[in-house]
Amino acid sequence: MNVEEIRAQFPILNEKVNGKPLVYFDNGATAQKPQSVINAISSYYSTYNANIHRGVHELSQRATEAFEIGRNKIQAFINAKHEHEVIINKGTTDGINLIASCYGKAFIKPGDEIVITAMEHHSNIVPWQLMCEERGAVLKVAPINKKGELIWDEFIALLSDKTRLVSMVHVSNTLGTINPVEKVISECHGRGIHVLLDGAQAVPHMKVDVQALDVDFYVFSAHKMYGPTGVGVLYGKEDLLEQLPPYQGGGDMIKTVTFEKTTYNSLPHKFEAGTPNIADGIAMSACIDFMNAVGLDQISQIEMELLDYATPKLEAMDHIEIIGTADKKAAVISFVSDLAHPFDIGTLLDQQGIAVRTGHHCTEPLMNFFCIPGTARASFACYNTIEEIDIFLNALERSLKMLA
Ligand code: ALA
Repeated sequence: MNVEEIRAQFPILNEKVNGKPLVYFDNGATAQKPQSVINAISSYYSTYNANIHRGVHELSQRATEAFEIGRNKIQAFINAKHEHEVIINKGTTDGINLIASCYGKAFIKPGDEIVITAMEHHSNIVPWQLMCEERGAVLKVAPINKKGELIWDEFIALLSDKTRLVSMVHVSNTLGTINPVEKVISECHGRGIHVLLDGAQAVPHMKVDVQALDVDFYVFSAHKMYGPTGVGVLYGKEDLLEQLPPYQGGGDMIKTVTFEKTTYNSLPHKFEAGTPNIADGIAMSACIDFMNAVGLDQISQIEMELLDYATPKLEAMDHIEIIGTADKKAAVISFVSDLAHPFDIGTLLDQQGIAVRTGHHCTEPLMNFFCIPGTARASFACYNTIEEIDIFLNALERSLKMLA
């Protein structure tokens, strides 16, 4: 598929914004959806809407099958060993909260330590703070350098015989930094420490193989991978998931219930209480089909070309500084200007039809580290083009002239 063929699948790319053709560079926040994903949602509601795992009737069976086919596709997509290691939930935040809560109850004693990094999203900070407070554990933060890379020796120095788990972003949403997760996992496992990776910004852009990584827990969201909002995945190794208590109680997660005692369902249902987001779960399988059809190699190649084209041009621009210059980066460029607040840059770009994200990107401690209030962030997807980057750069030049 060439880029024109990819673009043709996304109806929204024909929209005009403020009278200009849309240039959508806010893919880190959420990616646009191909027609196949939109159709999957509409077809479920218009032809076989029914609850799943419950009914003997035809519609319920069709819905259950479509939902479970999705699980099967996800298993193959991330190369999980077992289908029941794929928990379908609300997304990345939901997955981290589940692990913080259930892992905390199963394994954490007062004085134990959890290690995160200075580049984490709030969703990989706050759940651990809540858990540590509840269990008397200690949260340690591995520092980064000014390029936005983990400082390896200082990270290793933080690991001790009290460390139980390291929870780290695979690709930083704000900086684009790709963390050395293979090395992290092997160092941690050598010390008996479990690893959770926040893959929200990795899975849309690169092949992730959970068995090759040997990661213990991996979480991501469908909406950043061309799929619907409100649905995502928690992958966990079978033996670890078996040892965790349930997260929420309700329908589907039980085997038998009496007022005296309840027994719990097997994986994955133990962690899927209540009616799930069926339509979007089914549509998640359409987004996997889309990504497989384009191919992870091609997606990475397109995005890297965009990053390599845009980065030196932005670096050369007066009054612009890129925040996040790691040697290994995904296609995310955060930048600041000494002429204006990121919000003003974002507003001026929006008036020219260009969508970028502005603000702290849910990484306030990271903004404090760089001593900035926020950044403007352009993040690319496989339907973006070099022409769009030229439009963005020209619009940015124009905006800076106005601000000066
Ligand atoms: N965490 C998402 C972002 O980086 C919303 O934009």
